[in-house]
Amino acid sequence: GADPHRRVTLAELRSHNTRHDAWLAVRGRVYDVTEYLSFHPGGVEEVLRAAGDDATELFDEVHRWVNVEGMLGPLCVGVLDEAAREAE
Ligand code: HEM
Repeated sequence: GADPHRRVTLAELRSHNTRHDAWLAVRGRVYDVTEYLSFHPGGVEEVLRAAGDDATELFDEVHRWVNVEGMLGPLCVGVLDEAAREAE
């Protein structure tokens, strides 16, 4: 299983940006959403807009009320490196 405390650099996050290998970050936590894509009520393409990126802003624009950690907790692969976030 994944270690939810592992630090993920921005470069690593950015390298997972396709529909067959899609990671995104929401509120500092990084999720491998590849298996989730086809279950997303808003469609695959919408989630892919944020693949390989910090999705927090887009996520909150469309559904700030959705409990991402509650839904995707088991898909969490780590935390976005603080230094990487500050460099954005
Ligand atoms: C709808 C989850 C990422 C765009 C939804 C809904 C859920 C959900 C549960 C239904 C919400 C409701 O009806 O109240 C997630 C999760 C995400 C994610 C867990 C994280 C991986 C995104 C991203 C976008 C997005 C990055 C990009 C803009 C949308 C849109 C809808 C939607 C447009 C509305 C669909 C409709 O009502 O027709 N999402 N979402 N989602 N999501 Fe996401």
